[in-house]
Amino acid sequence: MLLTIFQRMAETPWSVALHESLWVWPLIESTHVLTLALFAGTAMLFDLRLTGRALTSMPTATVMARLLPLTRLGFVLMVATGLLLFYASPVRNYQNIFFRTKMLLMVLAGLNVWLFHNGIYRRVHEWGHAAELPRAARMAGWASLLLWTGVIVTGRLVAYNWFDCDIQPQSAFVNWAAGCVVP
Ligand code: HEM
Repeated sequence: MLLTIFQRMAETPWSVALHESLWVWPLIESTHVLTLALFAGTAMLFDLRLTGRALTSMPTATVMARLLPLTRLGFVLMVATGLLLFYASPVRNYQNIFFRTKMLLMVLAGLNVWLFHNGIYRRVHEWGHAAELPRAARMAGWASLLLWTGVIVTGRLVAYNWFDCDIQPQSAFVNWAAGCVVP
């Protein structure tokens, strides 16, 4: 179902043009990397505050208020450029095991953000000034650091896909995980 959609997408003139472009694709990818640096850099700085490894003399809510606009800006641009990169090679990305892992880790990272904001962060006025934060806040910080690191590593590995569906035979697990259609 999704494969058919992405096969059709890959045949659209804009997708082909983007895929074959000499300058536009590298420009979009560079913007993706720069904006993900803005996003991940500021998000991870906040995580370091949560884990008690940086900016411990600053109240948590202040760190959040200063960094969040930049984190949001980075996120929006990073997602927009990421979607364009995906659009340039929809089938190759969709069947890429590293891309799939990256998306899964992004969902888990998003879940972590949601749980943090709707959980322990609601009572930030009670604990936000402490250098050593409550266990739940520290755990959210460590989970975030780990998950975003995973997203960056798997994002980088997308380009080196040694599990490509064109390389056969692959193990049954790889073919299943990558969604390869093997005749
Ligand atoms: C909806 C969100 C996103 C989409 C659809 C997306 C999609 C992509 C695609 C298609 C590529 C190109 C892979 C290639 O052909 O070489 C890429 C590269 C990459 N992405 Fe994303 N991405 C997203 C978000 C993120 C996030 C949140 C991070 C990290 C915090 C990230 C990190 C990377 C990295 C490190 C690369 C490799 C850049 C390089 O080759 O130097 N992406 N992304």
